[in-house]
Amino acid sequence: MSNPFDLAGKVALVAGASSGLGRHFALELSRAGAKVAIAARRQAALEALAAEIAATGGTPLPVALDVTDPGSVTAALESASEGLGGLDCVINNAGIAMTDKALDITEESWSKVIDTNLSGVFRVAQAAGRIMKENGGGALVNIASIMALGGASLLASYAASKAGVVNMTRALAVEWARYGIRVNALCPGYFETDINRRTLKGSAGEVMVKKIPQRRFGRLSELTGPLLLLASDASSHMTGSVVVVDGGQHAAI
Ligand SMILES: NC(=O)c1ccc[n+]([C@@H]2O[C@H](COP(=O)([O-])OP(=O)(O)OC[C@H]3O[C@@H](n4cnc5c(N)ncnc54)[C@H](OP(=O)(O)O)[C@@H]3O)[C@@H](O)[C@H]2O)c1
Repeated sequence: MSNPFDLAGKVALVAGASSGLGRHFALELSRAGAKVAIAARRQAALEALAAEIAATGGTPLPVALDVTDPGSVTAALESASEGLGGLDCVINNAGIAMTDKALDITEESWSKVIDTNLSGVFRVAQAAGRIMKENGGGALVNIASIMALGGASLLASYAASKAGVVNMTRALAVEWARYGIRVNALCPGYFETDINRRTLKGSAGEVMVKKIPQRRFGRLSELTGPLLLLASDASSHMTGSVVVVDGGQHAAI
C-alpha cells in the first residue's frame, strides 16, 4: 500500500515561509517529497531557505508575496503554479500579532492585523482555489491559532482575526468540496518564534506555561505530523476540520 503522507511529485506553496512555523513547514514539505514555493516579503530570508532546501535535494522556488496586496497574491500563486508545474497544497500561514490593550487599539493597528491575518488569508485562499478548481482539486491548510477558540488579554484583534480564519475555513470547505478542494485549519498553541519570543521568554511566559497541561510550549517538530496529515492524501476525507496542537491548553478549564 502506498504511503498516504508521501508528497513526491506534488507542488506545495507556503505563505509566510521566511521564518518561524512557515520556514519549518517548507522544510518538512520538501522532506516529504514536495516541490515547494516559499513565499513572503523578506527575499533574503527566502533565498537562504531555498539554498537549505536545495542542499538536501529539494526543489524550492522563492516567490515575492505580500498578502495585503491582492495583485501580489495573484502573481505569487500563479508564478508558483507555473514555475513548479501545479499546485497541490497551500499552507496559508502568513500572520502578524499586535499586543495592545483593547481600550487603546487604534484603527490603524486593528486594520493591519485584520488585513494581514484574515483578509490576507482569504486572498491567498481565493487565488489558490481558482487554480485548484482548474486543476481538479487540492488541499488548503489555514494556520489559525488556539486564540481562535478562546480569548487572552491584549490580543483582541489577533483573536478576532484567527476566529475568522476558522469559520472561513468551514465555509470554504463546504463551498469547494464539489471541486475536490479540501480546506482545513491548524490551530497551534504556543511555539517560540519571532512573533512571540519576547513574551514567551519573559515573566508572562512563566505564567502562560502553567496554563498548559503538559507544562511546556510546543516544539516545531510537533507540528510536522499534523501539517503533513492536512497537506496530504492522508486526510482525504477531512475537510472543514480544525486540528488543535497545544499540549492540552484549550481542553483545560
Ligand atoms: N508561534 C506561535 O506560537 C503561533 C501560534 C499560533 C498561530 N501562529 C500563527 O502561525 C503563523 C506563523 O507565525 P510565526 O509564529 O511563525 O511567526 P513569524 O516567525 O513572525 O512568521 C510570520 C510569517 O508571516 C509572514 N508575513 C507577515 N506579514 C506578511 C505579509 N503581509 N505578506 C506575506 N507574508 C507575511 C512573515 O514573512 P515576511 O515578514 O518576510 O513577509 C513570516 O514569514 C501566523 O499566522 C501566526 O499567527 C503562531
